[in-house]
Amino acid sequence: MYRLKTIAKDIYYVGVNDRQKALFENLWPLPQGVSYNSYLIVDEKTVLVDTVDICYSDIFLKKITDALNGRPLDYLIVNHMEPDHAGSIRLLRQQYPNVQIVGNKLTFGMLEGYHGITTGLHEVKEGDTLNIGSRQLSFYMAPMVHWPEVMVTYDAADKILFSADAFGTYGTLDGGVIDTEMNVERYWEEMVRYYANIVGKYGNAVQRALQKLSALDIQTICSTHGPIWREHIAKAIDIYDRLSRYEGEEGVTVVYGSMYGNTEQMAETIASSLAANGVKNIVLHNVSKSASSYILKDIFKYKGVLIGCPTYSNRLFPEIASLLERIETREVKDRLFGYFGSFSWSGVAVKHLAAFGEKMKWTVVGEPVEQKQALKADKYEACWALGQAMAEQLKG
Ligand code: FEO
Repeated sequence: MYRLKTIAKDIYYVGVNDRQKALFENLWPLPQGVSYNSYLIVDEKTVLVDTVDICYSDIFLKKITDALNGRPLDYLIVNHMEPDHAGSIRLLRQQYPNVQIVGNKLTFGMLEGYHGITTGLHEVKEGDTLNIGSRQLSFYMAPMVHWPEVMVTYDAADKILFSADAFGTYGTLDGGVIDTEMNVERYWEEMVRYYANIVGKYGNAVQRALQKLSALDIQTICSTHGPIWREHIAKAIDIYDRLSRYEGEEGVTVVYGSMYGNTEQMAETIASSLAANGVKNIVLHNVSKSASSYILKDIFKYKGVLIGCPTYSNRLFPEIASLLERIETREVKDRLFGYFGSFSWSGVAVKHLAAFGEKMKWTVVGEPVEQKQALKADKYEACWALGQAMAEQLKG
């Protein structure tokens, strides 16, 4: 029944779209949904590369049945064990009891832990190959992109890399599957957000994987999320390369918490100063309104970070405290950092922000500003100077 998309001769897209889940990992908003990509290679042996989230296993298994057209499934390659891809393994095994599951030692530990599966396993190590007829598949370990067991699979005959989460993005596949058959503009910003939310902590691991993969002739990247990259491979790789080196664009993310608008006025003043001093990319986030997913995206994207926080019950404003923890978890490196805050009777927020900058080893720019109660002329000027210092450092 299904007219499945052909990626290359006898290689079919059998993934699914998720437009129902509100939050990926129950954390990150999905306004444009997400796809769980899976691929079926029908050669002398039949090979499935990854599965999908269990919520979509029914439709997924029907697609595979159609594509196999009565043939058995010989191999399932598990590039990544996170349940958005491995969720349907147990049901797949029930439908195809003889399928051999291909993975590495770490994969199999997780396979037992999540699914209780311990038999019918085909273990591979770095550089191992699997002959499936007209194709030879080879396997490369990519630990921590984004879990420790992650590996990628390369099909030399078609020059296709099955890359697991690498080069993935949020956003469903709305009809088209390959980048050549769609307008891909909406995915680039979502790719940065996906990277910042999901893979962000593991920049060094991504760099090691990119180094390793640069030896391969890759004409098509089949990631587990988002479009198949063919026309835009260079751009997808470039985005992952820059983000994993923590290279920020010329621009500033200004994040502030504010209960009654006083810290907000400081943020507005700093932003005006940034603009007056020639910074064009300025994003302001009210931490109580913007989801951290989007704030993290901009912090990964831009070189400058300015954080403003009121003192709340002798501590940081809770929403800022939570954001700082998320930034710290991602170990975002090499940012220009300025900070400011306000208080009503006793200020500690700015002191905490100073400690945060030190812990992150970020370069502190300008003089921090701390305002008691409403914004006064002298602190207005100090905020302006902070914005100017950031602009000069960015441009210098
Ligand atoms: Fe898309 Fe790390 O799973």
